Amino acid sequence: METSTQIGQIIGNYRITERISGGSFGSVYRAEHIHLKRRIVAIKLLHTHLESSTEQKYFTQEAHFLAQLEHPHILPLLDFGFSESQPYLITRYAPGGSLRHLLRQQKQILPLTQTLSLLQQIGQALQYAHDQQIIHRDLKPENILFNERKEALLADFGIAIMLSTVNSKHIADVSGTPSCMAPEQFQGVISKQSDQYALACIAYELLTGHVPFTAPGIFALGFQHLTATPVPLREHNQQIPLATETAILQALAKQRADRYPNISAFLAALCEPFVQPTIRQSTAIHLPVAGTIEPSFQGRQTAKETKQQWIDEGKNFLEVKRYEEALVAFEQAIALDPHDAVAFNGKGDALSNFQRYEEALVAYNQAIALDPNDPAAYTGKGLALEQLQRTKRL
Ligand SMILES: Nc1ncnc2c1ncn2[C@@H]1O[C@H](COP(=O)(O)OP(=O)(O)OP(=O)(O)O)[C@@H](O)[C@H]1O
Ligand SMILES: [Mg+2]
Repeated sequence: METSTQIGQIIGNYRITERISGGSFGSVYRAEHIHLKRRIVAIKLLHTHLESSTEQKYFTQEAHFLAQLEHPHILPLLDFGFSESQPYLITRYAPGGSLRHLLRQQKQILPLTQTLSLLQQIGQALQYAHDQQIIHRDLKPENILFNERKEALLADFGIAIMLSTVNSKHIADVSGTPSCMAPEQFQGVISKQSDQYALACIAYELLTGHVPFTAPGIFALGFQHLTATPVPLREHNQQIPLATETAILQALAKQRADRYPNISAFLAALCEPFVQPTIRQSTAIHLPVAGTIEPSFQGRQTAKETKQQWIDEGKNFLEVKRYEEALVAFEQAIALDPHDAVAFNGKGDALSNFQRYEEALVAYNQAIALDPNDPAAYTGKGLALEQLQRTKRL
């Protein structure tokens, strides 16, 4: 149902400058604000026409609902409307491409720290949305975009439901690319656990370089997801810790009840082997930085369950200058509680020590927004700004 949208066409307050791509739900365009030229956005013009006022009303209600999602790793919905009867959604433009694009470019699997950080960011965004009773429904590497700081932004939240609630004939379209679809989704059942299954598919691909199932066509693929046992991850990559493999296979369980109760619990199980629980007893363990997982991580068992334990762990790692592990620990704390200023502050400190000052600045700003009375976050922010200005001067 492609339409003849032209470069230069005005939609809302934006002028289309480029066609980016087309997906199962709509075509995506880059556009600039007609007055504020530096405001660049992406416009998704959906492949449907909502003619009746009732359909338009339902769509508007859903869009209002989605516009309330505010999270550092969710691509914000800025505006929406109808071009004639075609609904459109305007989001921030994500200049860093998609995770699918990154995986295609990459010859080897991503460095482990990058994989864990990515899964944490996406998982935190999903847990936040689930807390607001919103299910993504179409989680896949194509819908994970990157901003200019290479931070993940989850896109296309709930578009499937927007279309299926307004017009049942679009339900057929919601299948999209089914590589990460949960077994129950092939039978028309969706829940938060379907998003967890999709996140596990992404974790599987990031850690092994393979998708859990392949088959020619949606029906054959659906059959695989419904009935086949995935190849254990360690058959692809023996260096993946047993506990991580177990966590991913549990999240890929065919029955929803057999998966984790929520995304935070899945993330905790997934990342646990990478943070040494007995840091005070050992200094020999560190996170690998490129592509492989060290055998020394295998079989480590869960020790931390609370946010405070992760924060303490992060602080301990900071003290001994093991910043990668500190970062993982603080992100784990944030996954358990995305409103903890101390965890964001710690994340800022870890990132600053990597000289990732722009990302550190975002973390400090989050800490300040959550607790405007914490002087440590202002100090960190000041130092990060100073470093950024210094690099600009060079
Ligand atoms: N906000 C954005 N900023 C920059 N590029 C974007 C943005 N939204 C989408 N894109 C690009 O457009 C491509 C197509 O997106 P689109 O959502 O239409 O299809 P898809 O994600 O492949 O499938 P689906 O329709 O199931 O979501 C994306 O892979 C991405 O490269
Ligand atoms: Mg998409």
